[in-house]
Amino acid sequence: MSFDKRILITGGAGFIGSHLIRLMVEKYPKYKIVNLDKLTYAGNLNNLDDIQDRANYTFVKADICSPEEIKTVFKEHDISDVIHLAAESHVDRSIEGPMEFVMTNVVGTVNLLQQAKDQWEGKEGNVFHHVSTDEVYGSLGSEGLFEETTAYDPRSPYSASKASSDHFVRAFYHTYGLKVKLSNCSNNYGSHQFPEKLIPLMINNIVHKKPLPIYGKGDNIRDWLWVVDHASAIETIFHKGAVGESYNVGGLNEWTNIDLVNYLCKLMDKKLGRKDGESASLIEFVTDRAGHDMRYAIDASKIEKELNWKPSVTFEEGLESTVDWYLKNQKWIDNVTSGDYLDYYTNMYEDR
Ligand code: NAD
Ligand code: DAU
Repeated sequence: MSFDKRILITGGAGFIGSHLIRLMVEKYPKYKIVNLDKLTYAGNLNNLDDIQDRANYTFVKADICSPEEIKTVFKEHDISDVIHLAAESHVDRSIEGPMEFVMTNVVGTVNLLQQAKDQWEGKEGNVFHHVSTDEVYGSLGSEGLFEETTAYDPRSPYSASKASSDHFVRAFYHTYGLKVKLSNCSNNYGSHQFPEKLIPLMINNIVHKKPLPIYGKGDNIRDWLWVVDHASAIETIFHKGAVGESYNVGGLNEWTNIDLVNYLCKLMDKKLGRKDGESASLIEFVTDRAGHDMRYAIDASKIEKELNWKPSVTFEEGLESTVDWYLKNQKWIDNVTSGDYLDYYTNMYEDR
């Protein structure tokens, strides 16, 4: 079977990557989607059970840091484009151990760029879309929004590694003419997110009546976007975005952490038939995250105006569907939280 495009999507067994793979496989039967993932603690092929047998989908277990493995995948599948999501993604883990973030996020990205440049030498039209984060812009005070022109000011080992990878992507555009596109998105939530991140961690702890750890005073602000909307933004930028450009992605949806967790507690009290306030009584204020960024907020007017993209759901709708998914999929959580998941949290709190 011949395909119009043969797209390498890295990190496709993770949270956002699995949503993007599902979207691309279902919407574009004439594209061959090659999911490349190392299957770290955050990668889980069960996330893609529903599409794994499709004729236009294939999985390759490989490490983005390995030149040999990446070269082989490019050649075997005649890769025409790349959408790069594979990364170490959790800020707390980057504080515990920055080197893995340098290896995967910086060295891995440069290796992919180098292989793409070498394999596409003399060819036209190949796109390298790099998926990045709003955290590269640093931390906002109470006013203002991150724009595409905001100066980079990363403050955690995670965001420093992502900022570095963004710089390398632009360097390959300016130096070698690689056709790159970048997107910088705000906090995602939705199904299949590893329960170390705020929303799924809280949902899981509420279900099990475990403490709900709020860092510091809980007044830090994040700007939340439903993961399915992020996947549609990536698809839009990949097809319609201008080469060499960056697009901020977000839903103008700011919440303090404490307000969000209180809202979630109320919603889950209703769903679980508990009395109002029962889950909120589990909230515990704990030692703050080191260097905790105060506020993130995205100005997404460029992608809205130039590419006609906007989010499809309100936060309330997206959060309710997310809670419903976790309540129906306790087995998924039990699977991914086996292994060293609990050890990691025990060590983290002891070290602070
Ligand atoms: P995730 O941690 O859920 O998934 C990361 C995936 O990458 C996993 O499947 C893992 O196995 C894979 N991976 C890790 N190291 C690898 C390696 N060396 N080689 C191959 N595969 C490897 O992450 P996510 O939350 O889905 O984030 C995906 C991307 O989106 C990341 O680049 C992240 O920086 C970016 N991003 C995330 C958010 C968010 O809120 N989660 C927001 C904006 C941007
Ligand atoms: O902004 C985009 C980024 O969002 C992505 O690039 C990252 O990959 C993603 O992990 C996320 O980073 P955050 O650090 O903002 O997400 P996290 O879910 O870890 O934390 C959200 C907020 O909640 C943050 O202010 C810290 C706080 N928090 C988090 C946890 C896990 C708590 O108060 N308690 C917790 O237990």
